[in-house]
Order: sequence, then C-alpha cells, then structure tokens
Amino acid sequence: MNSDVFLQREMPHGQCVILRFGDGIDWSTHLTEAEAVFAEMLPLLRRHSFTAGRAALRMALRMAGTESGDLLPTERGGPNVQTGFSGSISHKDGLAAALATKGTQSTCGVDLEVVRAKRPDISRHVLTREELDADRELPAEERMRVLLLRFSLKEAIYKAIDPFVQRYVGFKEVRVTPQELGAADVEMLLPESDPELVVDAHWERFGEFILATARAERV
Ligand SMILES: CC(C)(COP(=O)(O)OP(=O)(O)OC[C@H]1O[C@@H](n2cnc3c(N)ncnc32)[C@H](O)[C@@H]1OP(=O)(O)O)[C@@H](O)C(=O)NCCC(=O)NCCS
Repeated sequence: MNSDVFLQREMPHGQCVILRFGDGIDWSTHLTEAEAVFAEMLPLLRRHSFTAGRAALRMALRMAGTESGDLLPTERGGPNVQTGFSGSISHKDGLAAALATKGTQSTCGVDLEVVRAKRPDISRHVLTREELDADRELPAEERMRVLLLRFSLKEAIYKAIDPFVQRYVGFKEVRVTPQELGAADVEMLLPESDPELVVDAHWERFGEFILATARAERV
C-alpha cells in the first residue's frame, strides 16, 4: 500500500479511506477539473485538506462500488455525492478521512480527532446534563478520554443526520455513551418537527487518533 495511505478498509458504517497530507504529499491529480478550480480558490492549508478529503472520498466511493463525479460542497457544507451513495469527510492534523456507503435509504458520517495530553474542557458545551452526571466521578484523564469520544461520535452523527434534518443540530440534542470495543449507545433528542431517525455509531482508536463513524436512516 502507498505509504501516504494511512488506512483503507471496510468499517461498520461503510468503506473508509484515511490519507496523509502536507509535507509535499500531493493528491491533486485525484481531483476533477471542477474540484481543482474550487481548490485553487482556497487558502493553502485549506486547499491541502480539501484536496486530500476529495481524494479519500473518491477512493472510498470506488470501494463502495461507484466512480464519482464532482464532489463539490453542497450548500450545507458536506460533499455532494451522487444519488444512490452517501459520503462524508473529516480532516485533522495531516490526516483526511472519508467514509462512503451504497444505498438510498441511509447516510453516513465520519469524524477524526486527535488525542492530546492537554485539551480544553469543553464538556459544558458538548454534554447533556445526564452525560455530565455520568462522567463526574471518573478520574480526570478518563473523563477527558470519554469527553473526546462523545464529542467525536456527535460530530459523526451530525454529518450523517444532516441530509435528513437540514439544520444545525446542537451537541445537547443527542446523547451518546461510548462502550468498549468501539460500540456506542445513541439516543436522539430531536424535536418532533424533525424526521424520526434510527442512528447507529461506532468508534476506533488508531494510535493517537480516534475515528468515529455513524449511520442514519429514517424510521
Ligand atoms: C460541520 C462540523 C461537524 C465539521 O466538523 P469539524 O470538526 O469542524 O471538521 P471536520 O474536519 O471533522 O469536518 C469537515 C468536513 O465536514 C463536512 N461538513 C461540513 N458541513 C457539513 C454538514 N452540514 N453535513 C455533513 N458534512 C459537513 C465537510 O465535508 C468538511 O470537509 P470539507 O470542507 O473539506 O469538505 C462542525 O463544524 C460543526 O458545525 N459541528 C456542530 C454541530 C454538531 O456537531 N452537533 C453534534 C450533535 S448532532
């Protein structure tokens, strides 16, 4: 495998590709003409993450069984994937992750985070009252580990549910409880005005990185 490919395999919610970017790694030959024009308009750092994200998603979609057209951003910010497939992108610290699935009924979402020794405590912004209470007695390091997992799972869920709800969904509108071995319990707390969804989430740790994935389907 190309050493600039960090990971390329099937995961519980779809085909996953993670690419390294920066340090002279060039994924621009994987862009369509329209994507290259779009990338040119972006500031340099953003151009690298956009380009690697598109390259990763194109590879993941190929693994899911399709050749992709222009994967330009939709009005809501996610990648515009052809009908019959779903795709999602995340980038962090020189890695770009993409997840792709086949199917018209369900959508997928991905989020990549890096485990740092020192992180700001964002629990009050991200966790529901019940989540805060559940984590209160944990040792400090474990509490921060669970916080990062909950955060990442919620971001992956946001990307998966966005095509259905088409609005900003706050972090406290979803309750997630990470379990061992990558499982996670998900409770959607959306108002009745939103479509009723079944959402499933999963996480994995790769060295200093956490990858969270999600799948959403209308009830
Ligand atoms: C949109 C959001 C999830 C992106 O996360 P991030 O940590 O800033 O950045 P990431 O690298 O993980 O993801 C960036 C990618 O998200 C995708 N994205 C942006 N908006 C999106 C949306 N509305 N729906 C789906 N995907 C979206 C894009 O593909 C983007 O990459 P690209 O611009 O190169 O194509 C985040 O900025 C946000 O608004 N979060 C708040 C809402 C939330 O997470 N709620 C949780 C409860 S459900």
